Formats: sequence, C-alpha cells, structure tokens
Amino acid sequence: MEKAPTRDDVVLDVVDLRTHFQTRWGTVKAVDGVSFDLRRGETLGIVGESGCGKSVTVLSLMRLVPSPPGRIVGGRVNLDGQDILRLSDKEMDGVRGSKMGIILQDPMTSLNPVFSIGEQVMEAIRIHQDIPKKSVLDRALDVLRKVGISAVGQRVKDYPHQMSGGMRQRIVGAIGISCQPLVLIADEPTTSLDVTIQAQYLRLLNDLQREFDLGLIFITHDFGIVAKTCDRVAVMYAGKIVEIGDVRDLFNNPAHPYTQALLASVPKMEEDVQRLYAIEGQPPTLHDLPPGCPFAPRCAQVMDRCYEEYPPQFRVSETHASNCWTLAP
Ligand SMILES: Nc1ncnc2c1ncn2[C@@H]1O[C@H](COP(=O)(O)OP(=O)(O)O)[C@@H](O)[C@H]1O
Ligand SMILES: [Mg+2]
Repeated sequence: MEKAPTRDDVVLDVVDLRTHFQTRWGTVKAVDGVSFDLRRGETLGIVGESGCGKSVTVLSLMRLVPSPPGRIVGGRVNLDGQDILRLSDKEMDGVRGSKMGIILQDPMTSLNPVFSIGEQVMEAIRIHQDIPKKSVLDRALDVLRKVGISAVGQRVKDYPHQMSGGMRQRIVGAIGISCQPLVLIADEPTTSLDVTIQAQYLRLLNDLQREFDLGLIFITHDFGIVAKTCDRVAVMYAGKIVEIGDVRDLFNNPAHPYTQALLASVPKMEEDVQRLYAIEGQPPTLHDLPPGCPFAPRCAQVMDRCYEEYPPQFRVSETHASNCWTLAP
C-alpha cells in the first residue's frame, strides 16, 4: 500500500481559474472556473475534446496566455505556497523553468534550429540555476543522459534537424527537467510521434517523475494513455472541469454523461479508429454560452433543470467528484 497523500504534499493548488479572450464575437470563456490540485510525484491527466480549454488552462498556469486577446480574469494559482498570479513579470520569469516547466505540443517549434542541442540545454541551466560556469556542461551532459541520449559527448554538438522526432522530444524533456522543477506540464507531447516512440516517451516521463518526485500534468485526448500513465484525471468540457477523480474510480464508474460518452467512444482494438469521439453533436463555441450545463444539448440524460442552472460539484466518492444534476441527492 502506498501512503495516503496529505495536504502537505500539494505543490500546485488552482482555485477558480478564469481566462477569457476578447474577440469580435464576444468574450470567449476558454477557462471558466477551473479548480484542482496536484501533489508531489503525482500525474494528473487532463482530457476533453479539442477546443475545451486544456491548453489555455496550462498556459494560464505558466502565465503564457497571449495577451491581448487573452487575459486571466480571476482565480488563484498557488505553486509551492506562493500565488503566482500576484507575481511581477520578472518574478514570474524566475518561476518558469525553475519551479514549473512546460513541454509544448511540437518539439520542433520549442527547439531553436540555429543552436546545437548542447547549447540549448546549457542555456536553460544557466538562466535558472546559480551554478559555477564550468559545471554547466557537466550538468547538461548529466541531464541528457537521464533522458536516455547515448554518446552524449558527441550528441551535444548536433543541431535539432540532425535528430529524429523521438530524440528531439527527449531533448525538450531534458530542457524541461534541467532545473528540477516541482511541476512539469506536458501538453499533448505525443501527437507528432509514432506509437512506439510515444510509449517510450511516456515511460521516460514517468521515470523522470519518479526520480525527481515531479508533479506531472499530462494533457492528452487519448484515454488509453491516461489509463496507463496517470494517477488522477480531470475531464474538461467547455472551459470547465466536469469530472475529476482517481483514474480507476473514473474509468470504472464514470459519473458524468460526457465522460461516459468519451469512454464509450474509445475504440476497441478490433474496431475502426474512425469511431473515436463519435459523440453526437458539436462542442459549444465558448462565447455567449447559455445558462445551465453546456453539455445539455448533447446529453442522453438531460433534464429541464440542466438548461436552467449549472450544477455544483457533487462527491461521488472520497476521491471522485463531478458536476452533473443526475448526481443530486
Ligand atoms: N488566441 C486566441 N484567441 C481567441 N480565442 C482563443 C485563443 N486561443 C484559444 N482560444 C479559445 O479558447 C478555447 C480553448 O482553446 P484550447 O485551450 O487551445 O483548447 P484545447 O482543449 O484543444 O487545448 C478555444 O475554443 C478557442 O475558442
Ligand atoms: Mg490544446
């Protein structure tokens, strides 16, 4: 039995986070009251259809939302006991990369084509860590070895275009962990990689996590990956977390009709992959949302009340909660 986590283990506590975009169609509520916490050494998966606010949520945590048109309009993000939404831009620069890192979707765009990979890893270490100049290279080599790069002495001189997609992803991972952050965010890091490399990469992330006791936030639209790699999972719909809980609870006993539909749409091995996410109807656009539950028009279990009032969070078990009127006592 693993020991039960206590509140002291919480490294990241997000409370009622709201991020809006001003567009000519109106205010897009991309993140609309998101709350969750993350403990040391824990992996939280965030799933949901495209456009539901997963990326904007994690960009908000890093304060990297493009502004304008985006703005964090409310909430608290406590990282290691400090509300980072209250920090100055300069203070926030210090947090990024040192306490919290992000691995973006496309490894090619996060690496600079004109610098060797050694220079890029060393740069990340130099910016965020106060270590003697002559130790920087050793540190970089060490980190590259940790992410499974062989013959590192040779590889550091290579440029991104000389490496395979899987290798580049490892380099981005190396930069992500080079300063031993408390929290590492990976936003759909596997979409551009083939399946074998995906599996290797996920194993790598889990290894790094164990070694450094990282809190890991893992965004994906693949429930299979969540089942294999995450401890807890949050399901997002239209800018809100509609269900959150331990992976096993949520898989065995999905409480929200949206989660049920997502799970039902996961293709079995022998079926046609086309069926993935074949949920009736479209997700709503995130401006001028009507009152009530945004999933109501697509919901198989909809009631009158669902169109009138957004449901509060109901507990399903000690470790599992969901916002759905079907759960009202
Ligand atoms: N730069 C932007 N300008 C206006 N709206 C945006 C911008 N970026 C994202 N959005 C809106 O935020 C919503 C959530 O986007 P995103 O977080 O990228 O979704 P995903 O869950 O696919 O990662 C989108 O539906 C989009 O309408
Ligand atoms: Mg995204």
